[in-house]
Amino acid sequence: MSKNLNLYFDNAATSWPKPEAVYRAPETQMREASGNPGRSGHTRTLESDRLLYKTRETLGRLFNISDPSRVVFAYNGTDALNIALKGFLEKGDHVLYTAMEHNSVLRPLGRLRRDGLIDTTMIPCSETGYPDLDYLETAYHPNTTLLVVNHASNVTGTIAPLPEIIKSAHNRRVKVLVDAAQTAGVIPIDVQKEAIDMLAFTGHKGLLGPTGTGGLYVSPDIDLKPLREGGTGSQSESDVHPESMPERLEAGTLNSAGLAGLLEGVNFILEQGFEQTRKKEEELRDYLWNNLRSINGITLYGPETSPGRTVAVVSLTVEGADCGEVGYILESSYGILCRTGLHCAPLAHQAIGTHPEGTVRLSPGFFTTKKDIDFLIQALVEIVQLASG
Ligand SMILES: Cc1ncc(COP(=O)(O)O)c(C=O)c1O
Repeated sequence: MSKNLNLYFDNAATSWPKPEAVYRAPETQMREASGNPGRSGHTRTLESDRLLYKTRETLGRLFNISDPSRVVFAYNGTDALNIALKGFLEKGDHVLYTAMEHNSVLRPLGRLRRDGLIDTTMIPCSETGYPDLDYLETAYHPNTTLLVVNHASNVTGTIAPLPEIIKSAHNRRVKVLVDAAQTAGVIPIDVQKEAIDMLAFTGHKGLLGPTGTGGLYVSPDIDLKPLREGGTGSQSESDVHPESMPERLEAGTLNSAGLAGLLEGVNFILEQGFEQTRKKEEELRDYLWNNLRSINGITLYGPETSPGRTVAVVSLTVEGADCGEVGYILESSYGILCRTGLHCAPLAHQAIGTHPEGTVRLSPGFFTTKKDIDFLIQALVEIVQLASG
């Protein structure tokens, strides 16, 4: 088999390629608008203000958020999760989280726990990545205030049963923070219908935007303490950071060039509609999974594919070969790009039985074709032969 050029199977890390408009928008924003939003009253500033408002409003349309001021911009998913966790939690709180959480949840929680501020309990997950809902029912404490759940695992693609989890938490008046890093732009999310209290999303994965973008939806009945304070362009006479949203949680100059690109990514997704794109991604994941399943020497991790249960992520190991080595051969011999190791989610690997080596993760994206997948499958067949020989 010959080497291909950059067959990209790392969309769970960051999506590539992007729609053309996403590449162009940041340049246009820097050349033609470029005023510092919220700061002055001149034309360029007002243009930037309009862009930010439009981006909040469009994200609002995507997630059914009726008040765009409840959409707070962040620099990535990690930043959004930090704003939520450190803004919400108070000394003495108890927090639940699942074993599928990313380090962007585990590490801030770990810090708050080590500092003696909070207590935490992990909800174990099955070896296919499903949270143990029976365990959840036993895990609440009288001081539990927050439950954090990864909407879809970046290791196995497993989609968490949000309705059941949210219902369970709300029955105890516990708020729910959903990490939508792997689902925003990939599966429909309706914060009102699903009663999501806080939704953290990143801009550079399924939303097809540039890196350096992301955000947090905060429901109207939650007041977060600001993680950062500083310039907002408003109430400059005061040394108290403004209370009004979204300024309350946004300090300093925003990434308006990146957000211009994010707006185009979200527009692209809205234009395509979820029905077709979701169907296509599910078909690709099924096709990849089903073909790999029949190869002796490959072990797959995650749910058997069926509609609504996974996003387009497949994790595997190859008998007799180290994951890093498989990744290296995929790139150096075939031009296939993927990610290997723990994917910043060590507890997820403990749950699925791949700790500490990790897995080879293949994540097709919006622009992946069936032909790309055929090439990948053939490459893996050859690698398995090599490893067994
Ligand atoms: C499940 C999950 N949560 C959070 C993040 C963090 O997102 P970001 O890289 O945008 O900070 C990631 C990124 O891989 C992720 O997969």
